[in-house]
Amino acid sequence: IRVGILFGGRSAEHEVSLQSAQNIIDAIDKDKYDVTLIGIDKQGQWHLNDKSQFLLNSNDPKLIALNKSGKNVMLIPGSPKQQLIHTADQGADAGMDVIFPVLHGSYGEDGTVQGLLKLANIPFVGAGVLGSAVGMDKDVMKRLLRDAGIPIASFKVYYGWEQDNMDFAGAVKELGLPLFVKPANMGSSVGVSKVRNEAEFMAAMKEAFRFDNKVLVEEFVPGREVECAVLGNDSPIASAVGEIIAQQDFYSYEAKYIDENGAVLEIPAKISPAASKEIQDIAIKAFKVLCCEGMARVDCFLTPENGVIVNEINTIPGFTRISMYPKLWEISGIAYSDLIDRLIQLALE
Ligand code: DAL
Ligand code: MG
Repeated sequence: IRVGILFGGRSAEHEVSLQSAQNIIDAIDKDKYDVTLIGIDKQGQWHLNDKSQFLLNSNDPKLIALNKSGKNVMLIPGSPKQQLIHTADQGADAGMDVIFPVLHGSYGEDGTVQGLLKLANIPFVGAGVLGSAVGMDKDVMKRLLRDAGIPIASFKVYYGWEQDNMDFAGAVKELGLPLFVKPANMGSSVGVSKVRNEAEFMAAMKEAFRFDNKVLVEEFVPGREVECAVLGNDSPIASAVGEIIAQQDFYSYEAKYIDENGAVLEIPAKISPAASKEIQDIAIKAFKVLCCEGMARVDCFLTPENGVIVNEINTIPGFTRISMYPKLWEISGIAYSDLIDRLIQLALE
């Protein structure tokens, strides 16, 4: 089976994607899958195999061997994009049998790449166009969750054209303090701030608008940060629950990927079986409501007074060294390479 692994990309999570892709490439069963690496650089240029290697910046001997084997040479000349589109005309005999998009954020996790693949009639891992698009936009995601009766944190939305007219007092009156400020379309906490006063609020809005024209202001939810992995298509299953114990103010980009001591992952979370079950049920419900397929990680708060509140869903969850998605499956009995195998099989169903 010929698998194209698509990684890198134009979003601010480019580097996170490189780390995720590296782990997937290491874990994939190379006897079963013929891997083609497709790296997308920050300018949006697509690179194949040897040329995509520079993006991974890896000296891993397995990976280098894979690229040098020669058996991954594409059947059709041209850029990967041309090949993908050409494949649609050629039927199943050309290019790749399935694509694993390991892209986080805009132009990868948001339905754009999924649309290209759909058009080219190539199966791919993860959510389709709609699930990807709604999962990426925190405003639309939260409104759909709320509509389904799934508890979420209260929020307000601001658009770029309102930038000169930010009503801090109004936001505080409605949502209290502290507040979270988040770009609507972003991941890995890029552009996210926790604010306690007007000066911080204004600075946080400015920062968030660097990444998106739509910004969410959310109430702070006191509670534990818990995550659950979901796997499947029509009958998805939920993993054991993990907990993030942030060592800083919140689970920021730095706490996730840069500061070694930024956060402690408790896997499985030390919570009651009843709380675990509630989180798993809500994770599966959110997965279905948001039209997901294949995989997603549902991030929640476990609160002392209001039960489980869904924070967000990630349709291409991180696969980095510190990422919860593969770790949660590992303790739930699905080893890393089996997980990759199952995800690819789900794409081919
Ligand atoms: N957006 C990052 C990769 C995550 O959700 O894990
Ligand atoms: Mg996210």
